[in-house]
Amino acid sequence: MMVFKRSPLFAALAAILLASTALASEPGDYVVEDGKVDPSTYEGYLVYTRACMACHGPDGLGSSFAPNLIQAAERLGWAEFAGTIAAGREIQPGQVMPSFADDPYVMGNIPKIFSYMLARGEGGLGRGRPQIIESMQEETEEAADAGEDGNEAAEE
Ligand code: HEC
Repeated sequence: MMVFKRSPLFAALAAILLASTALASEPGDYVVEDGKVDPSTYEGYLVYTRACMACHGPDGLGSSFAPNLIQAAERLGWAEFAGTIAAGREIQPGQVMPSFADDPYVMGNIPKIFSYMLARGEGGLGRGRPQIIESMQEETEEAADAGEDGNEAAEE
């Protein structure tokens, strides 16, 4: 039986794939429901606003100085998006994308920034500060209790 012969390999591969997706959420995962988002994507909005907006414009839309990051996230994909932030870039002379390699706050939050950009693009999330989906709110409170986001209070 074909299925029987092939199944050990497929089962092994499937087990590896399932384990890797179950253990960690993928960079770029997001949930958008009624214009609200999951806590990670919300944090992506906060990090973007603090670290990137001055150049890239409000809500990822780009400015006269730096490109739209909603389109960039979809075009570049995860590896190149993250790599550009780590390494910096200057394709057009004088328009410098700084390297964030020495900034642990940004480096640790690139997956969340990526999620926010994908949510804004393919996820259809609107402009402005999103709200968190109520049923997912608890995760954020636990994270705040654990001291993971000490800036949260200042932002409110
Ligand atoms: C000092 C201004 C400045 C800041 C701050 C900044 N960027 Fe940039 N970024 C730029 C410029 C300018 C470019 C275009 C560089 C070029 O032409 O090569 C760019 C390019 C990029 C690109 C490539 C875009 C594309 O279309 O290929 C990504 C991704 C990016 N920035 C992400 C970020 C993220 C995420 C942050 C915040 C953590 C950030 N940038 C903060 C100025 C900035």
